[in-house]
Amino acid sequence: MAEKNVTMDKIVNLCKSRGFVFPGSDIYGGFANTWDFGPVGVELENNIKKAWWKRFVQESPNTYGVDASILMNPRVWEASGHVASFGDPKMDCKSCKQRFRADTLIETYGKGDVIPDCMTNEEMEVYIEENNIRCPHCGNKTWTNIRKFNPMFTTSRGTLEAEADKVYLRPETCQGEYVNFLNVQRTARAKLPFAIAQIGKSFRNEITPGNFLFRTIEFEQMELQMFCKDEDSVQIYNSYKEKAWNFAKDIGLSEDKLRFHDHDKLAHYAKAACDIQYNFPIGWQELNGVHHRGTWDCSRHQEYSGKSMLYTDPVTNEKVLPTVIEYSIGVGRLTLATLCEAYEEETLENGETRVVMHFNPAIAPYKVAVLPLQKNLSEKAEEVYAKLAKEFMCDYDLAGSIGKRYRRQDEIGTPFCVTVDFDTLENDTVTIRDRDSMEQIRLPISKLVAYISEKVKF
Ligand code: GAP
Repeated sequence: MAEKNVTMDKIVNLCKSRGFVFPGSDIYGGFANTWDFGPVGVELENNIKKAWWKRFVQESPNTYGVDASILMNPRVWEASGHVASFGDPKMDCKSCKQRFRADTLIETYGKGDVIPDCMTNEEMEVYIEENNIRCPHCGNKTWTNIRKFNPMFTTSRGTLEAEADKVYLRPETCQGEYVNFLNVQRTARAKLPFAIAQIGKSFRNEITPGNFLFRTIEFEQMELQMFCKDEDSVQIYNSYKEKAWNFAKDIGLSEDKLRFHDHDKLAHYAKAACDIQYNFPIGWQELNGVHHRGTWDCSRHQEYSGKSMLYTDPVTNEKVLPTVIEYSIGVGRLTLATLCEAYEEETLENGETRVVMHFNPAIAPYKVAVLPLQKNLSEKAEEVYAKLAKEFMCDYDLAGSIGKRYRRQDEIGTPFCVTVDFDTLENDTVTIRDRDSMEQIRLPISKLVAYISEKVKF
């Protein structure tokens, strides 16, 4: 019998014990809301990034990758509006002095069914008052009014910590895509519509980080900006909603745990915005966003940099200020969703429970593990390992009973285990065990690479 029985605590514990994710600065007692990916987690994360890049850059015509600097000219953040108006609605508890985001308090209270992004600050204050929402830390109801808090981290460039030297750690990667619009268009000889994509770190001094990888202060984003003519923008916006959904599904998230959520409250420049939400153990929450940003980004950078962002149509000579459609998803958040989705507790025929991570094989940290049945088979097993390790991330395990070794691989989601036994010495065949069905078949060693390659494709 298989049951998911997934909770955030189980995921956090499994991640720590199996080398997916450790608390940041662990030996110093941690550093709140920072996490370090371990040997297994870094593979999972890298595979998710590779799958995204393959789908949205490699297989997408007219899409070009960049890797822009984290530190940018501070004027970028004036142009983007972050200096003046990027901010979360914060409330302080007057009793225990803890700080919270008003919208998160409402979301948590409503278990994901109340959407605060269509409320004004005043409406949020009234909602909190009427619903008697108390401080999650001390239980009192002694809130300050809502105030804006700018979550950009600052540091300083140069040797003096003067105001003039202040620079920001980017709170989103997309500005690196906007400021390179002309460079990419020229060097790639790109024609509208075309997209710029990148994967990189962002930083936000979040008021209420938490829920493991869900909301952290340092995180990676996979962002894509499609530059287009306004008349094509609605069709492109809708197509990215669909592409984002299909990617989430293909990476392994079940469709009954995904839903679209169109924003009611939009930024003043935006024509439309839609999240895809995932049903995490903490409830329905945003997984990614697709945003119709109009010409805001190009017009603001044109104004603040003094450089024309106009695109000249090569056929009509028409000059166009591009409209932008954005698709943005957090790597950590998607990793968390795949961990929650993959987790299962299965009761075996002998009454034991196995925890198994049913990752899509394409993103599984290790694709295959080589397990010699006994120590004196290790020479042959190492030969098999060396052959497979040239093609895939491959684990090798000699310690403990074969049953225990299978359990360890199940817990890190390895789709295949290859067992080297005494017949291997006779006829160069091995058994290969499937993680999900636990069925085993016998294969010649010479066919292993082709067999596994076929099953781990994205
Ligand atoms: N450029 C647009 C932008 O950054 P966003 O909705 O603020 O939009 C996009 O963020 C995505 O980045 C989110 O859907 C989420 O997946 C991820 N994300 C945002 N803040 C995060 C945080 N503090 N921790 C982890 N992931 C985060």
